[in-house]
Amino acid sequence: MEFNIEMYENLNQTEKHNIFLKELEIYLKDETDILANFSNLAAFISVFFENLNWSGFYLYKENELVLGPFCGFPATTRIAVNKGVCGAAFTKQEAIVVASVCDFPGHIACDIRSKSEVVIPLINKGKIYGVLDIDSSIHSRFTDKDVEILEKALELLYRYSDLDKLLVGKKI
Ligand code: SME
Repeated sequence: MEFNIEMYENLNQTEKHNIFLKELEIYLKDETDILANFSNLAAFISVFFENLNWSGFYLYKENELVLGPFCGFPATTRIAVNKGVCGAAFTKQEAIVVASVCDFPGHIACDIRSKSEVVIPLINKGKIYGVLDIDSSIHSRFTDKDVEILEKALELLYRYSDLDKLLVGKKI
């Protein structure tokens, strides 16, 4: 399957939002390998959400959040479940939108370009499997609309991927 970035380069963010889920589902629906689906979701986010410098996953393993598939510069590999924005979203089991990372106590800086961040927990069928973490190089980048669409994308990931084959979800 060939991805043609030129099809999307002239679209505005609303137009990209509108086709993101449809295009993503084409890639997820016939793939059974979870790691492949996690990887493509990170890549799709980097294409369809403007002004990002990092998008990826931290997956719950051995009572830590361990770096999973991502797009961006090298990152911290392990985060304690009570540290950083990722640990806060995991522990609170809710999405956290950070307008300015320097205002978030305990923010873990992986990339000096990061100015704002959104972290969404991976919760499916009563288990939490980690988080989706997205950084932007501009302040206040993320909106409720972004979170809504990203959560729909995660629902697609859960629909086409048996997370328990890859991960050990923690009962919540
Ligand atoms: N900023 C995150 C750490 C992950 S790097 O940004 C990829 C945090 O504070 O948990």
